[in-house]
Amino acid sequence: MPQETPAQDLRKLIKFLIASAFYFFVGTVHGVAQVIPSVRIWLDSIGSPYGGPGHMIDPLAHAHINVVGGVVLLCMAVTYYMLTTLSRRPIWSMRLVDHSFWWTALGVAGFYSTLMTFGIVEGNMLLRGETEAIYKLHRFYGPFIAIISTGMGVGFWLFFANIFMTAKSIYSTPSSKTA
Ligand code: HEM
Repeated sequence: MPQETPAQDLRKLIKFLIASAFYFFVGTVHGVAQVIPSVRIWLDSIGSPYGGPGHMIDPLAHAHINVVGGVVLLCMAVTYYMLTTLSRRPIWSMRLVDHSFWWTALGVAGFYSTLMTFGIVEGNMLLRGETEAIYKLHRFYGPFIAIISTGMGVGFWLFFANIFMTAKSIYSTPSSKTA
């Protein structure tokens, strides 16, 4: 009989599901707000969806809060749960489960807040004709979004590493015929 592996506390995956539902809530409220005529006219007047400050709000912020915050966090939890349940092998690292969650969840919150803040502030500056002020402020956008994007990326890469190492332990285990 294969050695029973100690049960891992898969309740750690619950936070992925709650965060996913929350980010979908934010993303859907954002989505509805974008079609309210006065908001739509404002977004179009600042360049959405093609460029300028409007592009940061629609589609970038809207797309990423839904696809990274909603879909990717859900996919991470489902992948972790199904991989360990189907293989009856433990996830390689539960610490990496937590790290992949917090880097991705806080990363997407930072990514969304940065895009929304720069989009709204620069958008209103644009409508007031303050091009010099936009230029001064936008110098900070690049470093800001790069640091936060890297944080979000770290969440993805820790998830990939944990999945690949788990797969390696599944297929290197003598009783891998379970897989
Ligand atoms: C670390 C993760 C990610 C980072 C840092 C990131 C960053 C970006 C950036 C900077 C752009 C804008 C490019 C431009 O200026 O037009 C972009 C566009 C986009 N991203 Fe991501 N992204 C990430 C993950 C994802 C994922 C996982 C998905 C889908 C599952 C996704 C879907 C999109 C889409 C659909 C667009 C195009 C939006 C448009 O202009 O219509 N992204 N992303």
